[in-house]
Amino acid sequence: MDKLVINGGHVLKGEIDISGAKNAALPIIAATLLTDEECIIKNVPDLKDISTMQKIFEYLGVKLRREKDVLVRESGSYNETTAPYDIVSTMRASICVLGPLLAKKSKANVSFPGGCVIGPRPIDLHLKGLRALGADISVEEGYIIANTKQLKGKDIYLGGHFGSSVLATANLIMAATLAKGTTVIHNAAAEPEIQDLGNFLLKMGAQIQGIGAHTITIQGVKKLHGAQHTIIPDRIETGTYMAAAAITNGDLLLRNTAPSDIMAITDKFREIGCLVDIDQNTIRIRRKNKMLKAGAVTTLTYPGFPTDMQAQIMSLLSISPGISVITEKIYPERFIHISELNRLGANIILEGCNAIVKGVKSLSGTDVMASDLRASAALILAGLVARGKTTVHRVYHLDRGYENLEKKLKAVGADIKREKE
Ligand code: EPU
Repeated sequence: MDKLVINGGHVLKGEIDISGAKNAALPIIAATLLTDEECIIKNVPDLKDISTMQKIFEYLGVKLRREKDVLVRESGSYNETTAPYDIVSTMRASICVLGPLLAKKSKANVSFPGGCVIGPRPIDLHLKGLRALGADISVEEGYIIANTKQLKGKDIYLGGHFGSSVLATANLIMAATLAKGTTVIHNAAAEPEIQDLGNFLLKMGAQIQGIGAHTITIQGVKKLHGAQHTIIPDRIETGTYMAAAAITNGDLLLRNTAPSDIMAITDKFREIGCLVDIDQNTIRIRRKNKMLKAGAVTTLTYPGFPTDMQAQIMSLLSISPGISVITEKIYPERFIHISELNRLGANIILEGCNAIVKGVKSLSGTDVMASDLRASAALILAGLVARGKTTVHRVYHLDRGYENLEKKLKAVGADIKREKE
């Protein structure tokens, strides 16, 4: 297992290219199961989660070929409809093959994704939506077993306790593209990654109205065909490097990004004392004054502040003078990073789903343990500004979601290296 060793205190300056969005690429790759024709997907980040999806495809008998950042789903039919436990257990997002398999093959056998360190992650909305379309679903021996004679369009309300669900919306849109008749999804997720999936499906010949809105209408078609698509830039990677510039009092230009997808992040960074200059596909970020300011952050579904940036902004606020409050409304238990940030000298207490962050003058490096993908990013950010050496253990989480993170940070002045445990 690898660890990252960071010597803090270096000001980051320069330019970083943003990679394609992991959370758009995963459902889009899954969507290629809806056709037997070739699909060409560009700007696919080289990440562990993407290779996990490739393993599922291999198991299903569908050939995926990578050429640099292009993933080619080769033409050809497949008969296997099982996504087995040993692959699904390493990536929850594997659940997004359920809808396409069911729609294309009329059956699917997907290992039930387990719990997760960021809190309970139920799949009731996925099952509710697919059952409404006419799937017969049972859970047996740890597998979701779904069958249908023919999916049929329906009016479905897909909201849960915490609002809309990104991957349940993805699963349902994909299933509905080949269902008979019209499906209307109410309280659909509107995240940019869902919009990207919708746009890819349109290119495949799907009939969808309302992409990006909370009500999506899908008119089922008989067949989808191959398509070419370029994945949108990763908004969470963008936000993470914005935090890296702000926390080190640096000045970064982020290229190949989509500023319109991260208005809530930009707005918050401005509120806490950053200058953010936006161009069509670049963002320049630096501090306005020497010090940052405290702030209040509440995570919400899109276009609100994303839960996937909660841990990173917590690192930033931990050195911003004053009291900040961070409220987590999507995953109320996504706070494991607090104890590790406190080991670095932060002063954060948890009250229900509110983290109360008392800004400290400085952090000091030590050994910390990464618990999940975004927590890993938060600890690295803290390490960039902490005095002395910070060692982030168990960084395999990071490789699931950030392409070339050390290389990108090093190129703008960070002292960071990967070592074997
Ligand atoms: N929920 C339910 N029932 C369901 C599904 C979800 O109650 O059937 C709840 C969840 O427990 C949570 C809320 O609804 O409280 C939102 O969860 P959602 O389903 O939207 O999450 P997801 O689709 O499983 C995606 C991202 C996550 C990101 C969330 C929220 C992918 C592959 N994953 O997960 O990304 O945090 O949306 O935006 O797209 C990450 O990249 O680090 C990551 C965890």
